[in-house]
Formats: sequence, structure tokens, C-alpha cells
Amino acid sequence: MSRTVVVTGASGSMGAAAVRSLASDGWRVIMACRNLAKGEAVRQGILADVPGADIALMKLDLTSLASVRKFCAALEEERIDALFNNAGIISRGYSITADGFENTLQTNYIGPYILTRAIAGKMNPGGVIVNMVSLTTRYGKVGRDIFERGEKQFSQLGTYSDTKLALLLFSIALARRYPTLKVSVADPGIVNSNMISMGRWFDPLADVLFRPFCRKPEKGVAPALKAISQAKERASQSVELFSASGHRPLAKRYLNHPDIDWLWDETARLSH
Ligand SMILES: NC(=O)c1ccc[n+]([C@@H]2O[C@H](COP(=O)([O-])OP(=O)(O)OC[C@H]3O[C@@H](n4cnc5c(N)ncnc54)[C@H](OP(=O)(O)O)[C@@H]3O)[C@@H](O)[C@H]2O)c1
Repeated sequence: MSRTVVVTGASGSMGAAAVRSLASDGWRVIMACRNLAKGEAVRQGILADVPGADIALMKLDLTSLASVRKFCAALEEERIDALFNNAGIISRGYSITADGFENTLQTNYIGPYILTRAIAGKMNPGGVIVNMVSLTTRYGKVGRDIFERGEKQFSQLGTYSDTKLALLLFSIALARRYPTLKVSVADPGIVNSNMISMGRWFDPLADVLFRPFCRKPEKGVAPALKAISQAKERASQSVELFSASGHRPLAKRYLNHPDIDWLWDETARLSH
């Protein structure tokens, strides 16, 4: 029986590359996409190239907790072997979702938190969860004000980094609560995707001077794919960071972060 993996943001650069690779390796892939038309175009492209690929497409909008819950309910009967939380954004400006959270925080952290907890709770031992973080995670700041930060505290890269750190701390909490699951974080490096357009005047310049030196999506997503494929062989129950330079345990500054449990509980309380 083939194993099933859920890939969020499967219509994006690295998401599509992940779906292609996993489907080629015989996984049954559930593409979780906010834009079904875009997702279907990606799916058709892969089906045309990978004979026998088993790829389903489902709607998931992380900026809507109702959408996340609907997605989880639709998966109720499925056996999920792996979850790749790949979707993410860098918002140019400050905005609030219908659920009342800052947009980047909900897309990159709160939505994945709800989704992951629902899936982790019914995964079999050995189930795999990989969360996409970033080089900038190390600059992130998570503290007890994280849900209260307003427009004044917002910055494009700063807020993005904070949300990636929140996702990493969540990964630690998850691994501690579900010791039979294999939880990893993956850092793709700097990748030539839509995401690196900052929506600023210098974008055209960066497209010429910077983009050609960025990793291709297939290369950027490779560490995350390794985290999925090597999960079985990993003896360690603790979270590992996969990147272009291999994989290693998380740094102590993350493992000893004082707000790991607070963040877990507070996110549950606020997103109830
Ligand atoms: N590119 C880099 O240099 C870089 C570096 C470090 C980390 N990352 C991380 O890598 C991951 C993939 O990024 P990428 O570079 O492949 O960028 P991308 O091409 O922009 O892909 C992002 C994906 O996330 C999806 N998404 C955005 N908002 C969503 C929402 N509300 N609900 C569901 N899906 C949503 C997008 O959907 P649409 O297709 O509908 O837009 C897209 O499929 C992200 O988590 C990003 O933070 C990227």
C-alpha cells in the first residue's frame, strides 16, 4: 500500500517540486492549496510527466481557521503518513485575517498549528512531520506579546522571522508531546521563487543581480524531502534541522527557549 503525504502550498515553487518528487517516488500526494485552479494546473503538469502518479487536490486556506478545520474534517477517514507544512508568505504590509490574527502569523504558524495537531493526533507511530523554516528563523523573536503585536511592531522580514521561529518552537513542543512521530524542520536556503519578490521598487534590479544566484526550487526543497525520506532511519526522537549542509539537532537556544509550552497552550486557547 502506498504511503500518503499532505503537502501544503503545493501550487508554489517548492511545493510543486515536492509533489513531483514525492509522486515520482511512489507516494500518494494530497496537494493542499488555497487556489484550486493553480493547484490543478500543477497537478496536470505532473500527471503528464509522471505516469501512474497518485495526486489528489484539496482546498486549504491557512488564513481561515474554518478552512483549516474543513480540510482536517475531510481527511478524517484518511491514513496520513507524512505532513509537509510548506506553505508560507512574507506579507509586505500589516493586515488582519477574519479570525483576528496578523496575516503572516496565521499563515505561517497558527494555521499550520491547527492542521498539524489535527493530523498528528491520528498518525500512526513513525508518522513524519516536516515544517519549512528559514535562514531568518535565528533572527525571530517569540515572547508573550506575540499575539498582541500591532502595526507598529510589524516589519516584512521581522514578522516573517518571528512566525518561522514560532513554527520551529511548535515543532519542539510537538516532538515532546508525540514521541512516536518524527518531527523535523527544513531550511531551503535562498530560493528563486515568488516569495523573494519584496514588492518594492528594487525588485527588477534584484531579478537581474540576485535571482540568478538563488537556488532552484528543486534544490531548495531537497532538505525537506530528505527529512521525509530519511525519517524511518533516524533514531533520534528530537527535532532535527535539515539544510543544504546536512542535518543536525537543533541549537540549545531553541531547545531551551522559555516560551515553548506557553506558545503551545496560548495558541490552542486563542484559536479555539
Ligand atoms: N524562497 C525562499 O528563498 C525561501 C527561503 C526560506 C524559506 N522559504 C519557505 O519555503 C516555503 C515555500 O516557499 P516558496 O519559496 O516555494 O514560495 P511560493 O512559491 O510563494 O510558495 C508559497 C506557497 O504557499 C501558499 N500559500 C500562501 N498563503 C497561503 C494560504 N493562506 N493558505 C494556503 N497556502 C498558502 C502559496 O499559495 P499560492 O500558490 O496560491 O500563492 C504557495 O503555494 C515557505 O514556507 C517559505 O517561507 C522560502
